[in-house]
Amino acid sequence: MTTANNYKPCDLVIYGALGDLTRRKLLISLYKLDESALLEADTRIIAVDRMPQDTAGYIEIARKSLDEFFSEPLEASVWERLAKRFIYVQVDITDLEQFKKLSKVVDQKSRVMVNYLAIPPMLFSNICKGLQKAKLNTKESRIVMEKPIGHDLASSRVINDTVAEVFSEEQIYRIDHYLGKETVLNLLALRFANSIFTTNWDHNAIDHIQITVAEDIGIEGRWEYFDKAGQMRDMLQNHLLQILTFIAMEPPVNLEAQSIHNEKIKVLQALRPITDYNVEDRTVRGQYAKGYIKGQQVPGYLEEEGANISSTTESFVAMRIDIDNWRWAGVPFYLRTGKRMSYKRTEIVIYFKQLPHNIFKDSYRSLPANKLIIHLQPREGVEIEMLNKIPGIDGAIKLQQTKLDLSFSETFNNQRVFGGYERLLLEAMRGNPTLFISREETEQAWTWVDSILRAWAKLSDKPRAYTAGTWGPNAADALLARDGRTWED
Ligand code: BG6
Repeated sequence: MTTANNYKPCDLVIYGALGDLTRRKLLISLYKLDESALLEADTRIIAVDRMPQDTAGYIEIARKSLDEFFSEPLEASVWERLAKRFIYVQVDITDLEQFKKLSKVVDQKSRVMVNYLAIPPMLFSNICKGLQKAKLNTKESRIVMEKPIGHDLASSRVINDTVAEVFSEEQIYRIDHYLGKETVLNLLALRFANSIFTTNWDHNAIDHIQITVAEDIGIEGRWEYFDKAGQMRDMLQNHLLQILTFIAMEPPVNLEAQSIHNEKIKVLQALRPITDYNVEDRTVRGQYAKGYIKGQQVPGYLEEEGANISSTTESFVAMRIDIDNWRWAGVPFYLRTGKRMSYKRTEIVIYFKQLPHNIFKDSYRSLPANKLIIHLQPREGVEIEMLNKIPGIDGAIKLQQTKLDLSFSETFNNQRVFGGYERLLLEAMRGNPTLFISREETEQAWTWVDSILRAWAKLSDKPRAYTAGTWGPNAADALLARDGRTWED
């Protein structure tokens, strides 16, 4: 295993160093990595943005961001160490000449240059060209790209092509921060390290699977971005499909990046297309209306700051997905994700099949099937719902549904759980591409999603309104009710 001390120090260049992602997420992750002694002693952080600023000024901004967005108090010695790593370089990314400023700072001899693109994708090409012009695109350097990579297949290809003109696929790290989450990675352990699940993980044993990624927050002042993206592009095309591939893929030959990518791509290729023909049966779009969350009144989507009141962008999606392969034939996957739902909750529920015969039918007409519930966040753990006999000697066997409950925080003694960004930043610096997304995967995911987006565009009805603080529009319940099922709530 790689430790802090056996990877080469880096010059981590963050483009968009004054932007939201850096201030809210990346700086906290870097602080936590430094606190855990996982940043190489000589690693530097080169903060790039277009605003005039010097390093001292940037350090002050970084400190303020940590004070504002990090919930824990900073340890003085860690902060001092981190602060010394920063170098601010003012670069107007639209002017390729300005990348020369970076060549004066970056040390290509004893450090690896890791370029983190925390900026909108339309600027990716400028960065690549600028780096090329300044001869900074050496074989060792890497590019880390944030989603969204395009807004459809065609635009994602344009981005991938332009980046590929300057960097080879091995140098490109496409981030989906869900792949850095401890609990998402635990899916690999759960499935491929436990024999009870290897033999019970297909259409013979499983009835259906539900994946819920619910958020209580709204669009957090990101109208400009979100209204063009919608929940489908913002969450489903990437995070939910990634979770789905982890649940559905065949066992990879090993844990190498290529082996895992190959298996994920096969799942994406087997997703049954949703087109004009079945889009109304298989999908539900919703948009939140005002309501209450944790006792506080919150505005509706169309009342958010900067809103265009005639927007038909969806903030909620539910759908039924079928995977046309040997393992999953006849097992529907129901996915739902939305903003401003009752509370934050990401979970996967595997519903096993009912028993073929019930020997307790004198007392129970039908026995509930077993359920495996995988809590991804905020509570992390795994539960199995099963039937047990209630202790007693009065003749009849009475059953009760009980839970085998493994809470990660209790089992692992509240050991620190690293967040997605921490892990992925570290892996990019270590040069380990396993947890990143390959070009083929993004393009395969876009191919499938594009077909739904095209079908939606032809529908005359708008997304259905749902009150903020609920689990989405009634139509999402009807989607499952049609198959005789209900959501796990
Ligand atoms: C981001 C989306 O990728 O993921 C956001 O752009 C969303 O809209 C966020 O809020 C959710 O991430 P997490 O880690 O809080 O579940």
